[in-house]
Amino acid sequence: MTKPAVTYELIKTCKQTGARLGIVHTPHGSIETPAFMPVGTQATVKTMSPEELKEMGAGIILSNTYHLWLRPGNDIIKEAGGLHKFMNWDRPILTDSGGFQVFSLSQFRKIEEEGVHFRNHLNGDKLFLSPEKAMEIQNDLGSDIMMAFDECPPFPATYEYMLDSVDRTTRWAKRCKEAHARPEDQALFGIVQGGEFEELRKRSAEALVELDLPGYAIGGLSVGEPKDIMNRMLEYTTPLLPENKPRYLMGVGSPDSLVDGAIRGVDMFDCVLPTRIARNGTLMTSEGRLVVKNAKFARDFGPLDPNCDCYTCKNYSRAYIRHLIRTDETFGIRLTTYHNLHFLLNLMEQVRQAIREDRLGDFREEFFEKYGFNKP
Ligand code: GUN
Ligand code: ZN
Repeated sequence: MTKPAVTYELIKTCKQTGARLGIVHTPHGSIETPAFMPVGTQATVKTMSPEELKEMGAGIILSNTYHLWLRPGNDIIKEAGGLHKFMNWDRPILTDSGGFQVFSLSQFRKIEEEGVHFRNHLNGDKLFLSPEKAMEIQNDLGSDIMMAFDECPPFPATYEYMLDSVDRTTRWAKRCKEAHARPEDQALFGIVQGGEFEELRKRSAEALVELDLPGYAIGGLSVGEPKDIMNRMLEYTTPLLPENKPRYLMGVGSPDSLVDGAIRGVDMFDCVLPTRIARNGTLMTSEGRLVVKNAKFARDFGPLDPNCDCYTCKNYSRAYIRHLIRTDETFGIRLTTYHNLHFLLNLMEQVRQAIREDRLGDFREEFFEKYGFNKP
């Protein structure tokens, strides 16, 4: 058997929490985990250059099959030599399969065994996405990690609906594996679904593990369910997954959930949260959320976060950034995006260090206290 394109090396587990410190090896280099992946939906992490992303410590980014299929088209990206070359990013890239985007962006959709009929969210044209098509597009993009085409049902869904959906997602994952044209340099990850139903999470995980894929994601979370349900599902699901493969929690990026996910054995995370809230002037800081547009910052000449050593915080004040955001100056959202991504990447570095030193539980307590998560 040939070696998979992506492998996981477990370095150690935290004695206090069981969190995993590891390395994910890919054809474009290795990343230390637990890791946060900034989101570059349209082949760019909005407003950031690849050089800036590297400077702040990003090891891997995520991009989207659905968006790049529509514009500029996977044929053009293939012709450019793949997504890495097209966007000048030479580190690992993970692409989501389009499954989730079809469900979150398109209003009209019809799910069939063959795939999903829906309308282009830009111009209303009829489109059809299937496991085979999602693989073809991702093979053209050349991402290091490709996600299987899945259904992410809304919360709450009935048990009957979820059972049907989980089994369909399993059949789709099998078809993805069969259609995958480049297993030697691209890894296909399966996505465990099952909503809030332990039985179905188990059913989904066991069927996907059977396919012997090089990594597994946990999907269908952070879709509106309370945090304790997410944590319970993670606690239940991660032990069902192979120890020697990476686990990726999709669409989760709030600071508390990153720490709580790592404690439950998750290795990889992604979310638009830090970049999206940055563009309306909301910052993640060591002392909690800060809305820099507020009038109280008009004459505040201190940094966004006094405990941050990022480019933004070293050089610019709350008053200046507030002014830029209020006047819709592009530089303002560049500065806030830089800070928020730096904050999360730095948080993950602190999480990894705490695992190394067997004190992630203590770190969680201190971090939550300062950030204000412990407040009622
Ligand atoms: N992004 C966030 N959640 C999901 C999910 O369940 N499936 C996919 N494909 N992408 C996601
Ligand atoms: Zn900063």
